[in-house]
Amino acid sequence: MFKVVERSMIVPNVHLLTIEASEVAQAARPGNFIILRPDEQGERIPLTIADWDVSAGTVTSLFVQVGASTAKLARLKAGDTIPTFAGPLGNETEIAKFGTVVLVGGCYGIGAIYPIARALKAAGNRVFALIEARSSFALYWEDRLKTVCERVLVISRDGSRGYKGHVTRLAEILATEKIKPDRLIAYGCTYQMMEVSRQTKPLGIKTIVSMNPIMIDGTGMCGVCRLTVAGETKFACVDGPEFDGHEVDWEEFLARRESYNAEEVEPLHRSGSCSHF
Ligand code: FES
Repeated sequence: MFKVVERSMIVPNVHLLTIEASEVAQAARPGNFIILRPDEQGERIPLTIADWDVSAGTVTSLFVQVGASTAKLARLKAGDTIPTFAGPLGNETEIAKFGTVVLVGGCYGIGAIYPIARALKAAGNRVFALIEARSSFALYWEDRLKTVCERVLVISRDGSRGYKGHVTRLAEILATEKIKPDRLIAYGCTYQMMEVSRQTKPLGIKTIVSMNPIMIDGTGMCGVCRLTVAGETKFACVDGPEFDGHEVDWEEFLARRESYNAEEVEPLHRSGSCSHF
């Protein structure tokens, strides 16, 4: 059993969950995810690791509450235990000295980009964050990101903070801010990552996205998380979760996801629930 150290709603509908799991904390790398179950009957929920503390032996993730499974997670409190906490899973983010890197985060992705920003800065990059939410009240971890980013830009759908609108304005914002990324990494809902990839393709900016299909085993055995990248079948859990956004077959990915009924899609708290689009 794994102990809950903290579960708190940090902005409406977005929860922070810190679990005691020292082996996972020791092995965690930026871009990894974990799979957990809130109870013995619960579905397996994949969550990107947003931070970890090796000395405390804890791992932190963010999740969006959208239905039954995530509602169970949202009821956890410090001291509770959960039966499953497997990880770290997936390949880590490629960290190297690329030059200028822009990290785009929305929903759970605002937290997920933090360890990536930290590692990229340590590798000598100029790191910018572009975080997006439907309104200023849905933004979080801005101060934390500022500690590892040269600047943190904001897009709010209602214009209450930063640029008004959403990532459909990405190319325009990069031009206005005179930021020329050598690489861009996006974590958020499927539509956000698809739109980011669409915007950066004509600009020739290498774009990495973290794909978030339904997952069951997370080890490449069940085949549920398959997608097509550069014409080849890939499994998000073992070949990803990060892929080149310009090579993902987005139409197929969306069609596959929509083929699941609402109950099955519900665990897609990492993606389908996003209300930004
Ligand atoms: Fe089963 Fe990826 S979750 S193959």
